[in-house]
Amino acid sequence: MATNRTFTMIKPDAFGAGNSGAILKMIEEAGFKIIALKTTRLDAKLAGEFYKVHQERPFYADLCKYMSSGPIIAAILEKENAIVDFRKLIGATNPADAEEGTIRKLYATSIEANAVHGSDSDENAQIEGGFFFNAFERID
Ligand code: PPS
Repeated sequence: MATNRTFTMIKPDAFGAGNSGAILKMIEEAGFKIIALKTTRLDAKLAGEFYKVHQERPFYADLCKYMSSGPIIAAILEKENAIVDFRKLIGATNPADAEEGTIRKLYATSIEANAVHGSDSDENAQIEGGFFFNAFERID
């Protein structure tokens, strides 16, 4: 995956509330191209694997349980400066700290149910995108 790409998930809270379309619209309007997209579901084992970088953190078990609690949308996005620009678009992890107009400010309900995931580095974007999509499921 090129370094101008990031990986995102629309989390179970936002998917369940019917906010996926509005969130994808914000993403496209911010200039991101959708390179790959699927609706899917993580079971506890897959969530544990996806979030294993956080396995020592106190919220790891809760996060994995939450992320396997309902359907999600996974997507690879492309834009110049994708990682930084996407994290600006989604806002702070805790919606209470997120800036006005960000996805989390608009749609997240708590630090756990925070609407969307965004990769924190080019390296992790590549790993995370590869976790969900093979070469036939994305544009290269
Ligand atoms: S980040 O985005 O990696 O800098 O954020 P970080 O604070 O390191 O959090 C990593 C992921 O854990 C989620 N998180 C939590 N989940 C449940 N409960 C609590 N208290 C909590 N704190 C952080 C946070 O939403 C990040 O998930 P992703 O999917 O990576 O956004």
